[in-house]
This record gives sequence, structure tokens and C-alpha cells, in this order.
Amino acid sequence: MNLRALLNERLTAALRAAGADGEPIVGPAARPEFGDYQANGAMAAAKRLKMQPRELAQKIIDLAELSDIVERAEVTGPGFVSLTISDRWIENAALAGAIDATGQGQRVVIDYSHPNLAKEMHVGHLRSTIIGDAVARTLEGLDYTVLRQNHVGDWGTGFGILVAHLKDVGAEASEELRDLERFYREASRRFKDEPDFADRARAVVVALQSGDEATLDLWRRYIEASMSHCQEIYDLLGVSLRPEHVHGESAYNEDLDNVVADLDQQGLLEESEGALCVFLDEFRGKDGNITPIIVKKSDGAYLYHSTDLAAVRYRVGTLRADRVLYIVDARQSFHFKQLFALSERAGFSGDASLEHHPFGVMLAPGGKPFATRQGNIMRLTELLSEAVDRAREVVASKNPGLSATERDRVAQIVGIGAVKYADLSKNRTNDYVFDWDSMLSLEGNTAPYLQYAYARIQSLFLRGAVTREERNGDVRIETPYEHDLGLALARFQETLEHVAESAMPHFLCGYLYDVASKFMRFYEHCPILENGPMRGSRLTLCEATAATLHQGLGLLGIETVDRM
Ligand code: ARG
Repeated sequence: MNLRALLNERLTAALRAAGADGEPIVGPAARPEFGDYQANGAMAAAKRLKMQPRELAQKIIDLAELSDIVERAEVTGPGFVSLTISDRWIENAALAGAIDATGQGQRVVIDYSHPNLAKEMHVGHLRSTIIGDAVARTLEGLDYTVLRQNHVGDWGTGFGILVAHLKDVGAEASEELRDLERFYREASRRFKDEPDFADRARAVVVALQSGDEATLDLWRRYIEASMSHCQEIYDLLGVSLRPEHVHGESAYNEDLDNVVADLDQQGLLEESEGALCVFLDEFRGKDGNITPIIVKKSDGAYLYHSTDLAAVRYRVGTLRADRVLYIVDARQSFHFKQLFALSERAGFSGDASLEHHPFGVMLAPGGKPFATRQGNIMRLTELLSEAVDRAREVVASKNPGLSATERDRVAQIVGIGAVKYADLSKNRTNDYVFDWDSMLSLEGNTAPYLQYAYARIQSLFLRGAVTREERNGDVRIETPYEHDLGLALARFQETLEHVAESAMPHFLCGYLYDVASKFMRFYEHCPILENGPMRGSRLTLCEATAATLHQGLGLLGIETVDRM
């Protein structure tokens, strides 16, 4: 149940009944003295009606149908409507991480991870991979039909050089492909230093483009090697991408001529310095010139834009997407503005909503870029195994009683979870600094803190020999700690819907942190295992907290452990 939406509905009706327009804008209260929820739409509406905001707020309260949900409604501040949810409502709400299938029947394409296969996948692709996967899982949790699209960079002149080098070292030398970084560096060096190799590489580009089978075969070998390396990283990270989600740039080759023909038929193409371009007026700069969208170069080559236009047609036409989410670096914002504008103009996107959800750069400790120009980019496998090693130390000092095998298993889950959560918990639009100590801390908004809260509940059940029935009973709210925890648990659905809309997983992280913090306060103040009339209710709240943490972390792609 989306409580926030429900309150919004009720207050909107009251606002209309009071003769005003606009939206009540319900959100969690800014401060505890404002109750649980707060609506601040009365101010703007009152202004239009030339009324006192507090007076209108009171009128809304008088007219609103709230008695089944709200215990206290009052006017606060300059004209807020402040609401306190009734204990009875919380007692009857679904608290144990249940999710309503609000996404049923809607199809969402998510374009994420999309590394360039010429090189090894590096830290630059980590954010898209982690964020995209959390969004995909959350949407699936709400029952959306999610279509993962791994739009890998597997085509272009760069591959001509690699294939030419592969031809020289011999396709059977698969040993060489084990270290893609070295292979890439060597191929680039030869292209620069050996003129006859450079000539051959150019010929290979032509052969590739004309569909020469033998050349394509070598190209496929390279792509396969590079892709299996990516899959290793996905598996290590616990990312849900599989080979069947790969639909790379090369998949659109056949359709590029059609895209251009279609644009031409619509009279959108113009020739400029031999290239085929689209000039859209909204991309006129301050200098009066329009930045064109180049769809075909003068030498006949297609570009990033051409492929993306074909991809829009495929996603909307064939995959029948209602929404297409592009989880791509903020530096590509202009590309997507142009892509979306042209797709709409050309009728490629139909009724679908095309959305670029950008993110900032991940910076190395100290705030420096991870990838240096000297090329000593930190390998992802190295980064991830360091995370696991560091987590092993944290776990060993926290719980020396774990066996070595268990410690390894827990370290894996805590280390990988910490890396993912550190990324997911920040507002993705900002840059963020990668910091080992803060991500592995057992204090604060981190994965280990949430995993620890979960494990603590499991050990409490063990300690109290708690049966399944005992922790799945009715909830009774007696103290403010139970009220706060119960309400937080009841807000799971509205949080997930917010993430689905905004493609911003940090709302879910903040939510889970709030649940865990409220649980800790409840745990400190309310005796749980004590025999008496409250034991069953309190254990049920514990169970609902554990279920919500488990479910919520799962939607972020992070696992829990019973002991840590
Ligand atoms: N491979 C590209 C890169 O690494 C990102 C692709 C993003 N998706 C897209 N449809 N353009 O920069």
C-alpha cells in the first residue's frame, strides 16, 4: 500500500472541496514535531485564492476524509498540514516487506553497463552496471516487465586494428586474449609504429564492414573473449546481466541504411560537408549555429547516433517498451538530448518515454580520477578482491568465532555489498569519492551496517528460541519507538515506487537506513524477549524489519547473512 499516495489523494479531494486548485504535495515530515507526514500545497493555493494559508490549511483538514488513517491533523508553520498516522492503521498495515504489483503490464527497457569491448571493462563502467542493476531489480520487484539491454561497444574502426593483430598472432593463440589490456596496447602500438600493419588494419576495417566471413569470425572470437571477461565481473559482482541481454552496437548494422532512408523520406536529412546530418532548431547555440546530428559521415561510416536511432526503433517497435531508461554517464547528456529530440521528431519513439538517467564520475580515494592518462587503470577484478580482503578483516575482528569457510563466504557478501551500496547510496547525479573505510564501516549508511542489523535480528531469534508462529503474529503499538518503526516499515511500497519513477536507488538506501536506525532505537528501549503480553508483537516487528531489510537489500542486488 502506497500510504503517501493515499494521503495525497485524500488531501487533493479536500483541496478541491475547499475551492482551490493545485497539489497538496505530501511528503515525510521535515521534523518530528510536524508529525509523520506534511503537506505544503496550501500556501501556493491560498495565494491564488487570496486567502490566509493557515486558514486554507485548516479548511482542508476540516474537509478531508482521514479518520481511518490519521490520528492527529493540525496546521503547523506558515500553513503546512501535518499528519500523525494512527497506531491502529499501522497495526493493520502490511509491514513485512510485501510489494504491490503496480508495474504489471508495463514494459521497461533498461540500457546499462554497456562496456566497450575493445578493452577490459574498468571502473568507468562500474556505476552504470551497479545502478542499472538495482533499478532493474526494483522494477521487477514491482512486477514491471524489465528488458535488460547491454548496449556493448562492439563495432567500429578500433576493432579493425584488433582483428588485424589477432590475425597476425594467430587466432589459435587464445592465450593472447587472456590479457586484453596487453593485447589492446600491443595492437595500438603496432598501428602507430608499423606502417604496413596500419595498412592491413585499414583493409580489415573494410572487410569487416563488407561482411567478410573469415574476418567476422576473428572479430567474433575477440568479442567472445572480451564478453566472457565481462561476464566474470558480473558474476563476481552478483549483477543479473547474462549473455542473452547483450544487444550491442553491431546488432544494428543491418538497420542503419533503413534509418537513414527513413529520415531522408521525412525530409529531415541535409548534406553538410559531405556528411548526412539533421539540423534541429532547438540545438541552435548562442552563436546562432545549430549543432547538427551527424548520421552518416562523408566516407560512408555510421556513428554513435545512427546506432542509437536504430536502437530506439528496436526498443519501441520490437520490444514494445513503454519506457526506455538509459543509465549513462552525465557527460553524454547532450547526445541523449539530441537523440530523444530526433527520435520524437522522426516518430521512432511513439508514445514511449525515453529517459536519460545520468550519473557522475567515481573518483579514486583522495578525489583523483581512477583512470590516469598513463593508462594504469585499476583492474575491476583487483578492486573487487581488495574489497573482499578488507571485509574479511572487518568480519574477523567483529566475530572471531566464525569458521574460515564461513568467514570467506561472509567476507564475499559484505565486501561486494559494501562496494555496491557505497555507490547506490549517493545521489547518482553527483561525482563520488571511493573510500574503503567509510564503505566498510559498521556505523552509518553502509551495507555492513544494514547487514549487521539483519544478522542481529537473526541471532536474537536464536537466543530467544523464537518459533516461526511467534514472530508472525499481530502487531500492537504501545510506545513511540514501535510507532516509528512500524510506520517506517509501512512505507516500503511508496519508497519502491519512488525509485521506479526516478531511477534513483539512493531513496531505497536512505529508506533502509531509516528502518535500521528506527529498529535500533526500538531495540534499545523496548524489551523484546521478555515474557509478557508484548513479546509476540515485538518479535513480529523484528521479523518484519528483517524481512524488509532482506527484501530491500535484495532489490539493490545485495545479500544478507545470518551471522557476521
Ligand atoms: N558504450 C558506451 C560507452 O562506454 C555507452 C553506451 C550507452 N548506451 C547507449 N545506448 N548509447 O560510452
